[in-house]
Amino acid sequence: MKTVIRNGRIVTAVDDYDADILIEGGKVVMIAKAIAVDADRVIDAKGRLVIPGGIDPHTHMELPFGGTSASDTFETGTRAAAHGGTTTIIDFAVQGKGQALNQALDGWFKKAEGKTSIDYGFHMICTDLPDERLPEMKELIRQGVSSFKLFMAYPGVFLVDDATIYKAMLTTGEAGGLICMHAENGVVIDAIVKRALAEGKTAPKYHALTRPTKAEAEGVHRAIALAEIANTPVYIVHLSCDDSLQEVTRARDNGTPAYAETCPQYLFLDSSVYEQPGFEGAKYVMTPPIREKWNQEKLWRGLQFNDLQVVSTDHCPFCFKEQKELGLNDFSKIPNGGPGVEDRMSLVYNGGVAGGKISLNRFVEIVSTSAAKIFGLFPRKGTIAVGSDADIVIFDPDEEKTISAKTHHMNVDYSAYEGMKVRGVTKTVLSRGELVIEEGKYVGKPGHGQYVKRGLFNSPR
Ligand code: URP
Ligand code: ZN
Ligand code: ZN
Repeated sequence: MKTVIRNGRIVTAVDDYDADILIEGGKVVMIAKAIAVDADRVIDAKGRLVIPGGIDPHTHMELPFGGTSASDTFETGTRAAAHGGTTTIIDFAVQGKGQALNQALDGWFKKAEGKTSIDYGFHMICTDLPDERLPEMKELIRQGVSSFKLFMAYPGVFLVDDATIYKAMLTTGEAGGLICMHAENGVVIDAIVKRALAEGKTAPKYHALTRPTKAEAEGVHRAIALAEIANTPVYIVHLSCDDSLQEVTRARDNGTPAYAETCPQYLFLDSSVYEQPGFEGAKYVMTPPIREKWNQEKLWRGLQFNDLQVVSTDHCPFCFKEQKELGLNDFSKIPNGGPGVEDRMSLVYNGGVAGGKISLNRFVEIVSTSAAKIFGLFPRKGTIAVGSDADIVIFDPDEEKTISAKTHHMNVDYSAYEGMKVRGVTKTVLSRGELVIEEGKYVGKPGHGQYVKRGLFNSPR
């Protein structure tokens, strides 16, 4: 099967030029000014951008949390991701207490295998790492799970202590893997939460008020310090605020290989969401919480100056009805997380490129290329080059749309961005050369997506 994309403007993290692309066997096989072959399929990209498929390295399909599970399955979540121009997700498998890491991974393969419309990889969330389990991390790295998320938050559930973090960093560092850190001082946060509840403060807004930015920044500082002691790189997930960014910036200025992602919710929403009437604020109960508006400008600066390398989503949707409602009388029982996998590319294009904050090349870098490098997928993914997977998005930079739960494809009954008008719309998506979205319509199939065995950490700069 030969596919040619004609007349497009190809934009990668470094290039911007008009050319045709020939795809065969799921790969890009030729890029040239004008390709004259007898193709089975011709896609006209005139007036549109042709960009590498988005890579979202932070999703939680079907994540069990707080007595329920994230409402998107691998099937619904990857279909929605494709609608939004994402062609690879890296989801988080979770180790149960006492569970072998490969057993945990098997459980997540069972959830995903044969269900996804786009390719997927896994990180492993480690919750229980006695010394004898540390070598299992190296085994997972050999199987393509080259990054691990550790939590400084949620004592009794996910939290691991500093000695464990240090040993895990040493082990993964030796094998070329990466620790991804949920950086928050969870022990102190728990004490603040208990105090608030004892004072009768049960509304959703107290989720935000009990998780101060300093508690996140302290975690970021400690994570980086431990990585420096272990002489390994570290990647901070879902960084939400300037206090935390300052820690990353200082470390990078000193030459420490510290990397970080932020998410659309921290770039486009602010803490006024918690002032919505009734229980509405529960829609925004996620961790870290949405911060005061002035932080947004600082995060954009972090993206502009490469102190932040990636925009992921931390997609972890729970329906407002029945799921968020588990915390009607107690904010600490509201399942933490929100939807976003479908909206990321349009939001970042609209706010970043159309908003004049970042270049088109930087847009591609932060939604695709940097994640591909950091998480061992580059150059197979994250760029358009001869030999790369033909994961390609044809994106209309001028079309506008209004984000709404009425029209989105995520399996969740609200949108965090309801009514927001954005410029920049994903029109057509190819995953390894196969059409998944054609002019906005899903034409893919669950089961097309494959597990991607990732390589080792590769510094993006
Ligand atoms: O609130 C969030 N972020 N839920 C997902 C779990 C996590 O910490 O990433
Ligand atoms: Zn987290
Ligand atoms: Zn997460």
